[in-house]
Amino acid sequence: MSEDVSVIVVGSCMTDLVSQAPRLPKAGETIHGHKFFIGFGGKGANQCVQAARMGAKTAMVCKVGKDFFGDNYIQNFKNNAVSTDFVEQTEKAATGAASIIINNTGENAIVIVAGANMLLGEEELRRAQSAITRAKVLICQLEIKPDASLQALRMAKEHHVKTIFNPAPAIADLQSDFYKASDVFCCNESEAELLTGMAVTSVEEASQVSLELLRRGCGSVIVTLGPQGCVVCQSTNVVPKPVPTTLVTAVDTTGAGDSFIGALAYYMAHYSTMPLEEMARRANLVAAVSVQTVGTQTSFPFRKDLPTELF
Ligand SMILES: Nc1ncnc2c1ncn2[C@@H]1O[C@H](COP(=O)(O)OP(=O)(O)O)[C@@H](O)[C@H]1O
Ligand SMILES: *[C@@H]1O[C@H](CO)[C@@H](O)[C@H](O)[C@H]1NC(C)=O
Repeated sequence: MSEDVSVIVVGSCMTDLVSQAPRLPKAGETIHGHKFFIGFGGKGANQCVQAARMGAKTAMVCKVGKDFFGDNYIQNFKNNAVSTDFVEQTEKAATGAASIIINNTGENAIVIVAGANMLLGEEELRRAQSAITRAKVLICQLEIKPDASLQALRMAKEHHVKTIFNPAPAIADLQSDFYKASDVFCCNESEAELLTGMAVTSVEEASQVSLELLRRGCGSVIVTLGPQGCVVCQSTNVVPKPVPTTLVTAVDTTGAGDSFIGALAYYMAHYSTMPLEEMARRANLVAAVSVQTVGTQTSFPFRKDLPTELF
């Protein structure tokens, strides 16, 4: 097998099928829209692509269908220099897809079919085991079977690979083992609320919620706060630290959290002595670039587009 990867992601791949229409159709109705586009999404793949664009040697562990969208997604990984050695294609389900309708006021209606993503399991993880255990950083989310995510996190942890866990989409009764398997537990405000039942609308409340999440057994907690940056809290110094970001004009914040996590993974893999707060400060600045243009992966910056101070 080829050279060791620094950042490996076990997670989802999703094709976004986006239609823009004057309004959302009613049941049984057919209406005409004015724009259609296909986008590459899925939190796992998004985070992996951002880490790769920062300059990390990355690999994606995921499952897509043996279909047009699956072929297309594999090509997208190759275009972004992401290793596809552990991207498997199945005939048993279609590539994950999100059919999205957006009206003129920005409201949307979305149907997600996870498809092949739900067929990623123990066997696939076993085939990727040597890459997972030799990586510097593993990232997992919750868009695949939770058991598969947990197994990957444990596999990494046993081999002293740093783990980042992004509990998205959040589930209220997350198994306690996820906290123990996370070196960095990174979520946004709504996920933190759902996990703890605590309200999170301010930096102060995010600090309180990060303490609660830390108590559940993770090494560190990062709660992202959109234009307010994030809060970082570590078990080695249990004082939540607000990490503000710069003021920018946001045009599309879709995928901002994924850009943040991909960048964070890059720093964790390549700057082993950098304080986590400094990594979070830099990840804020990478994500701030992503919100200034439209799209998800299309808005993620490449290393060459970022200020040299970030490296
Ligand atoms: N309007 C914004 N201005 C600047 N940075 C932003 C903005 N929105 C998001 N970000 C950056 O993206 C990160 C993640 O955004 P957030 O909205 O918290 O996550 P999610 O995409 O999961 O909803 C934030 O921590 C911040 O660094
Ligand atoms: C947090 O992320 C979820 C996706 O997991 C998203 O639906 C939600 O809108 C985000 N919340 C905030 C406050 O950005």
